[in-house]
Amino acid sequence: MDRWRDKVAVVTGASAGIGLAISKALVQQGLIVVGLARRKAKMEDAMQDASGPGQFHAKECDITKEQNVIEALNWVKSTLGAVNILINNAGVVNHQKIEETPTPELEHIINVNLLGLLYCSKEAIKLMKENQQEAHIININSVLGHMVPPPGLVSFSIYPATKFAVTALSEILKNELIGSNIRVTVRKCIKFCVMPGSSVPEKNVSPGLVKTEMVVAAINKNSMFSKMPALEPEDVAFSIVHALTVPPHVEINEITIQAKQGPLLP
Ligand SMILES: NC(=O)c1ccc[n+]([C@@H]2O[C@H](COP(=O)([O-])OP(=O)(O)OC[C@H]3O[C@@H](n4cnc5c(N)ncnc54)[C@H](OP(=O)(O)O)[C@@H]3O)[C@@H](O)[C@H]2O)c1
Repeated sequence: MDRWRDKVAVVTGASAGIGLAISKALVQQGLIVVGLARRKAKMEDAMQDASGPGQFHAKECDITKEQNVIEALNWVKSTLGAVNILINNAGVVNHQKIEETPTPELEHIINVNLLGLLYCSKEAIKLMKENQQEAHIININSVLGHMVPPPGLVSFSIYPATKFAVTALSEILKNELIGSNIRVTVRKCIKFCVMPGSSVPEKNVSPGLVKTEMVVAAINKNSMFSKMPALEPEDVAFSIVHALTVPPHVEINEITIQAKQGPLLP
Protein backbone atom coordinates (compact mmCIF):
# COMPACT_ATOMS: atom_id res chain seq x y z
CA MET A 1 0.00 0.00 0.00
CA ASP A 2 3.01 2.33 0.11
CA ARG A 3 2.17 3.89 -3.23
CA TRP A 4 -1.22 5.02 -1.87
CA ARG A 5 0.20 6.64 1.27
CA ASP A 6 -0.89 10.32 1.53
CA LYS A 7 -3.18 9.84 -1.48
CA VAL A 8 -6.82 10.91 -1.25
CA ALA A 9 -9.67 8.37 -1.02
CA VAL A 10 -13.34 9.36 -1.09
CA VAL A 11 -15.60 6.80 0.61
CA THR A 12 -19.36 7.18 0.33
CA GLY A 13 -21.51 5.92 3.20
CA ALA A 14 -18.66 6.28 5.70
CA SER A 15 -20.92 6.81 8.72
CA ALA A 16 -21.70 3.12 9.29
CA GLY A 17 -21.08 -0.49 8.37
CA ILE A 18 -18.80 -1.35 5.48
CA GLY A 19 -17.97 2.26 4.54
CA LEU A 20 -16.88 3.03 8.09
CA ALA A 21 -14.69 -0.09 8.23
CA ILE A 22 -13.12 0.79 4.86
CA SER A 23 -12.42 4.35 6.06
CA LYS A 24 -10.67 3.06 9.18
CA ALA A 25 -8.63 0.56 7.16
CA LEU A 26 -7.48 3.25 4.72
CA VAL A 27 -6.51 5.65 7.52
CA GLN A 28 -4.56 2.76 9.02
CA GLN A 29 -2.74 2.45 5.68
CA GLY A 30 -1.80 6.14 5.66
CA LEU A 31 -4.36 7.54 3.21
CA ILE A 32 -6.21 10.82 3.48
CA VAL A 33 -9.84 9.71 3.59
CA VAL A 34 -12.87 11.89 2.91
CA GLY A 35 -16.08 10.28 4.14
CA LEU A 36 -19.36 11.32 2.54
CA ALA A 37 -22.66 10.65 4.32
CA ARG A 38 -25.67 12.57 5.60
CA ARG A 39 -24.80 11.98 9.28
CA LYS A 40 -21.60 14.00 9.66
CA ALA A 41 -21.52 13.87 13.47
CA LYS A 42 -21.92 10.09 13.41
CA MET A 43 -19.00 9.79 10.99
CA GLU A 44 -16.83 11.97 13.20
CA ASP A 45 -17.77 10.07 16.37
CA ALA A 46 -17.30 6.66 14.78
CA MET A 47 -13.88 7.60 13.40
CA GLN A 48 -12.60 8.77 16.82
CA ASP A 49 -11.00 5.40 17.45
CA ALA A 50 -9.40 5.13 14.00
CA SER A 51 -5.67 4.73 14.29
CA GLY A 52 -2.80 5.02 11.87
CA PRO A 53 -0.79 7.58 9.98
CA GLY A 54 -3.64 8.75 7.72
CA GLN A 55 -6.26 11.46 8.16
CA PHE A 56 -10.04 11.52 8.05
CA HIS A 57 -12.30 14.36 6.94
CA ALA A 58 -16.08 14.04 7.32
CA LYS A 59 -18.22 15.86 4.75
CA GLU A 60 -21.98 15.98 5.05
CA CYS A 61 -23.29 14.94 1.66
CA ASP A 62 -26.53 13.44 0.39
CA ILE A 63 -25.31 11.62 -2.70
CA THR A 64 -28.79 11.66 -4.24
CA LYS A 65 -28.38 15.42 -4.68
CA GLU A 66 -25.98 16.09 -7.53
CA GLN A 67 -25.21 19.60 -6.28
CA ASN A 68 -24.16 18.17 -2.88
CA VAL A 69 -21.77 15.79 -4.63
CA ILE A 70 -20.33 18.56 -6.84
CA GLU A 71 -19.75 20.76 -3.79
CA ALA A 72 -18.15 17.93 -1.79
CA LEU A 73 -15.77 17.02 -4.62
CA ASN A 74 -14.95 20.70 -5.24
CA TRP A 75 -14.04 20.92 -1.55
CA VAL A 76 -11.78 17.89 -1.93
CA LYS A 77 -10.06 19.45 -4.93
CA SER A 78 -9.53 22.86 -3.35
CA THR A 79 -8.48 21.49 0.06
CA LEU A 80 -6.64 18.28 -0.73
CA GLY A 81 -5.76 18.76 -4.40
CA ALA A 82 -6.87 15.44 -5.87
CA VAL A 83 -8.99 12.33 -5.73
CA ASN A 84 -7.01 9.14 -6.22
CA ILE A 85 -9.53 6.54 -5.03
CA LEU A 86 -13.33 6.52 -5.03
CA ILE A 87 -15.14 3.81 -3.09
CA ASN A 88 -18.79 3.88 -4.09
CA ASN A 89 -20.23 2.15 -1.05
CA ALA A 90 -23.38 4.01 0.13
CA GLY A 91 -26.47 1.91 -0.38
CA VAL A 92 -29.98 1.27 0.92
CA VAL A 93 -32.29 -1.73 0.85
CA ASN A 94 -35.96 -2.44 1.41
CA HIS A 95 -37.74 -5.71 2.16
CA GLN A 96 -41.28 -4.99 1.03
CA LYS A 97 -42.73 -6.32 -2.18
CA ILE A 98 -42.62 -3.74 -4.97
CA GLU A 99 -46.42 -3.47 -5.00
CA GLU A 100 -46.35 -2.63 -1.28
CA THR A 101 -43.43 -0.19 -1.45
CA PRO A 102 -44.49 3.44 -1.71
CA THR A 103 -43.21 4.96 -4.95
CA PRO A 104 -41.08 7.62 -3.21
CA GLU A 105 -39.27 4.78 -1.38
CA LEU A 106 -38.64 2.94 -4.67
CA GLU A 107 -37.30 6.17 -6.17
CA HIS A 108 -35.08 6.70 -3.13
CA ILE A 109 -33.46 3.27 -3.51
CA ILE A 110 -32.73 3.98 -7.19
CA ASN A 111 -31.43 7.45 -6.32
CA VAL A 112 -28.99 6.25 -3.65
CA ASN A 113 -27.80 2.97 -5.18
CA LEU A 114 -27.59 4.07 -8.80
CA LEU A 115 -27.81 7.82 -9.36
CA GLY A 116 -25.70 8.67 -6.29
CA LEU A 117 -23.00 6.31 -7.50
CA LEU A 118 -23.21 7.88 -10.96
CA TYR A 119 -22.90 11.47 -9.66
CA CYS A 120 -19.89 10.58 -7.48
CA SER A 121 -18.19 8.69 -10.31
CA LYS A 122 -18.71 11.55 -12.79
CA GLU A 123 -17.19 14.18 -10.52
CA ALA A 124 -14.34 11.94 -9.35
CA ILE A 125 -13.41 10.93 -12.90
CA LYS A 126 -13.03 14.61 -13.88
CA LEU A 127 -10.59 15.18 -11.01
CA MET A 128 -8.78 11.88 -11.55
CA LYS A 129 -8.19 12.73 -15.22
CA GLU A 130 -7.03 16.24 -14.35
CA ASN A 131 -4.24 15.11 -12.06
CA GLN A 132 -3.17 12.13 -14.22
CA GLN A 133 -1.99 10.05 -11.25
CA GLU A 134 -2.88 6.40 -10.79
CA ALA A 135 -6.55 6.25 -9.78
CA HIS A 136 -9.01 3.54 -8.81
CA ILE A 137 -12.80 3.37 -8.57
CA ILE A 138 -14.30 0.49 -6.57
CA ASN A 139 -18.03 -0.12 -6.61
CA ILE A 140 -19.44 -2.11 -3.72
CA ASN A 141 -21.94 -4.35 -5.40
CA SER A 142 -23.82 -7.39 -4.14
CA VAL A 143 -24.64 -10.90 -5.19
CA LEU A 144 -28.04 -9.41 -5.84
CA GLY A 145 -26.37 -7.45 -8.63
CA HIS A 146 -25.96 -10.78 -10.42
CA MET A 147 -28.99 -12.83 -9.43
CA VAL A 148 -32.57 -12.24 -8.33
CA PRO A 149 -33.59 -14.18 -5.22
CA PRO A 150 -35.84 -17.13 -6.01
CA PRO A 151 -39.52 -16.87 -5.09
CA GLY A 152 -40.62 -17.71 -1.57
CA LEU A 153 -37.66 -16.03 0.08
CA VAL A 154 -37.54 -12.59 1.61
CA SER A 155 -38.26 -9.77 -0.81
CA PHE A 156 -35.59 -7.23 -1.62
CA SER A 157 -37.97 -4.94 -3.49
CA ILE A 158 -36.18 -3.03 -6.25
CA TYR A 159 -32.72 -3.44 -4.65
CA PRO A 160 -31.47 -6.20 -7.01
CA ALA A 161 -32.47 -4.09 -10.04
CA THR A 162 -30.33 -1.22 -8.77
CA LYS A 163 -27.40 -3.57 -8.13
CA PHE A 164 -27.72 -5.17 -11.60
CA ALA A 165 -27.48 -1.61 -12.92
CA VAL A 166 -24.29 -1.12 -10.88
CA THR A 167 -22.83 -4.22 -12.54
CA ALA A 168 -23.60 -2.79 -15.98
CA LEU A 169 -22.40 0.69 -15.05
CA SER A 170 -19.08 -0.71 -13.82
CA GLU A 171 -18.56 -2.45 -17.17
CA ILE A 172 -19.48 0.71 -19.07
CA LEU A 173 -17.12 2.87 -17.02
CA LYS A 174 -14.34 0.35 -17.41
CA ASN A 175 -14.79 0.44 -21.21
CA GLU A 176 -14.93 4.23 -21.30
CA LEU A 177 -11.79 4.53 -19.19
CA ILE A 178 -9.60 2.12 -21.17
CA GLY A 179 -6.26 3.83 -21.81
CA SER A 180 -6.74 6.34 -19.00
CA ASN A 181 -5.01 6.50 -15.62
CA ILE A 182 -8.16 5.19 -13.91
CA ARG A 183 -8.85 1.56 -13.03
CA VAL A 184 -12.38 0.43 -12.29
CA THR A 185 -12.79 -2.69 -10.24
CA VAL A 186 -15.45 -4.34 -12.30
CA ARG A 187 -17.97 -6.72 -10.88
CA LYS A 188 -16.49 -6.31 -7.49
CA CYS A 189 -19.21 -8.58 -6.39
CA ILE A 190 -19.23 -9.05 -2.69
CA LYS A 191 -21.09 -12.28 -2.57
CA PHE A 192 -22.65 -12.56 0.76
CA CYS A 193 -26.37 -12.50 0.44
CA VAL A 194 -27.56 -15.95 -0.31
CA MET A 195 -30.44 -17.37 1.56
CA PRO A 196 -30.51 -20.86 3.02
CA GLY A 197 -32.20 -23.28 0.68
CA SER A 198 -32.00 -21.04 -2.35
CA SER A 199 -31.39 -22.70 -5.67
CA VAL A 200 -28.94 -20.15 -6.94
CA PRO A 201 -27.16 -21.61 -9.94
CA GLU A 202 -23.78 -20.26 -8.91
CA LYS A 203 -21.05 -22.25 -7.25
CA ASN A 204 -19.22 -19.47 -5.50
CA VAL A 205 -22.10 -17.91 -3.71
CA SER A 206 -21.37 -17.34 -0.07
CA PRO A 207 -23.89 -17.96 2.66
CA GLY A 208 -23.33 -15.05 4.97
CA LEU A 209 -24.30 -11.47 5.49
CA VAL A 210 -22.25 -8.53 6.71
CA LYS A 211 -23.21 -7.42 10.16
CA THR A 212 -24.21 -3.78 9.56
CA GLU A 213 -27.11 -1.45 10.31
CA MET A 214 -28.70 -2.56 7.05
CA VAL A 215 -28.77 -6.18 8.16
CA VAL A 216 -29.81 -5.53 11.73
CA ALA A 217 -32.80 -3.63 10.32
CA ALA A 218 -33.56 -6.59 8.06
CA ILE A 219 -33.44 -9.03 10.98
CA ASN A 220 -36.08 -7.03 12.76
CA LYS A 221 -38.35 -7.63 9.78
CA ASN A 222 -37.41 -11.24 8.98
CA SER A 223 -35.85 -13.63 11.47
CA MET A 224 -34.45 -15.79 8.66
CA PHE A 225 -31.45 -13.47 8.49
CA SER A 226 -30.55 -14.15 12.10
CA LYS A 227 -29.89 -17.82 11.28
CA MET A 228 -27.25 -16.98 8.70
CA PRO A 229 -23.53 -16.67 9.33
CA ALA A 230 -22.30 -13.12 9.02
CA LEU A 231 -19.16 -11.38 7.93
CA GLU A 232 -17.84 -8.43 9.85
CA PRO A 233 -17.52 -5.12 7.93
CA GLU A 234 -13.75 -5.32 8.58
CA ASP A 235 -13.60 -8.50 6.48
CA VAL A 236 -14.85 -6.51 3.49
CA ALA A 237 -12.44 -3.65 4.22
CA PHE A 238 -9.59 -6.16 4.23
CA SER A 239 -10.47 -7.24 0.69
CA ILE A 240 -10.62 -3.62 -0.48
CA VAL A 241 -7.11 -3.03 0.83
CA HIS A 242 -6.02 -6.16 -1.03
CA ALA A 243 -7.58 -4.95 -4.29
CA LEU A 244 -5.71 -1.65 -3.93
CA THR A 245 -2.44 -3.31 -3.00
CA VAL A 246 -1.95 -5.40 -6.13
CA PRO A 247 0.36 -3.85 -8.75
CA PRO A 248 -1.24 -1.51 -11.32
CA HIS A 249 -0.94 -4.12 -14.12
CA VAL A 250 -3.12 -6.57 -12.15
CA GLU A 251 -6.86 -6.35 -12.50
CA ILE A 252 -9.09 -8.01 -9.93
CA ASN A 253 -12.44 -8.60 -11.57
CA GLU A 254 -14.37 -10.23 -8.81
CA ILE A 255 -13.94 -10.99 -5.18
CA THR A 256 -16.02 -13.55 -3.37
CA ILE A 257 -16.21 -13.11 0.35
CA GLN A 258 -18.08 -15.56 2.48
CA ALA A 259 -18.54 -16.19 6.15
CA LYS A 260 -17.28 -19.71 6.70
CA GLN A 261 -18.66 -20.10 10.19
CA GLY A 262 -19.42 -16.54 11.03
CA PRO A 263 -20.95 -15.39 14.30
CA LEU A 264 -24.71 -15.54 14.35
CA LEU A 265 -26.28 -12.15 14.29
CA PRO A 266 -27.82 -10.95 17.55
N1 LIG B 1 -24.65 -5.60 4.71
C1 LIG B 1 -24.80 -6.52 3.76
O1 LIG B 1 -25.04 -7.70 4.05
C2 LIG B 1 -24.67 -6.14 2.33
C3 LIG B 1 -24.93 -7.13 1.38
C4 LIG B 1 -24.79 -6.83 0.05
C5 LIG B 1 -24.38 -5.57 -0.35
N2 LIG B 1 -24.14 -4.62 0.57
C6 LIG B 1 -23.76 -3.28 0.09
O2 LIG B 1 -22.72 -2.72 0.86
C7 LIG B 1 -22.86 -1.30 0.89
C8 LIG B 1 -22.81 -0.80 2.34
O3 LIG B 1 -23.86 -1.39 3.05
P1 LIG B 1 -23.86 -1.52 4.65
O4 LIG B 1 -24.36 -2.88 4.95
O5 LIG B 1 -22.57 -1.06 5.21
O6 LIG B 1 -25.04 -0.49 4.99
P2 LIG B 1 -25.33 0.43 6.29
O7 LIG B 1 -24.60 -0.06 7.48
O8 LIG B 1 -26.80 0.56 6.34
O9 LIG B 1 -24.67 1.83 5.85
C9 LIG B 1 -25.16 2.50 4.72
C10 LIG B 1 -24.33 3.75 4.51
O10 LIG B 1 -24.85 4.44 3.34
C11 LIG B 1 -25.01 5.78 3.67
N3 LIG B 1 -26.08 6.43 2.89
C12 LIG B 1 -27.36 6.03 2.76
N4 LIG B 1 -28.05 6.93 2.03
C13 LIG B 1 -27.17 7.91 1.71
C14 LIG B 1 -27.28 9.13 0.99
N5 LIG B 1 -28.45 9.54 0.44
N6 LIG B 1 -26.19 9.92 0.86
C15 LIG B 1 -25.00 9.55 1.42
N7 LIG B 1 -24.84 8.40 2.11
C16 LIG B 1 -25.92 7.60 2.26
C17 LIG B 1 -25.36 5.81 5.16
O11 LIG B 1 -25.00 7.07 5.72
P3 LIG B 1 -26.07 8.18 6.24
O12 LIG B 1 -27.30 7.47 6.67
O13 LIG B 1 -25.33 8.86 7.36
O14 LIG B 1 -26.26 9.09 5.06
C18 LIG B 1 -24.43 4.72 5.68
O15 LIG B 1 -23.16 5.26 5.95
C19 LIG B 1 -24.18 -0.99 0.20
O16 LIG B 1 -23.93 -0.57 -1.13
C20 LIG B 1 -24.92 -2.30 0.22
O17 LIG B 1 -25.82 -2.42 -0.84
C21 LIG B 1 -24.29 -4.86 1.90
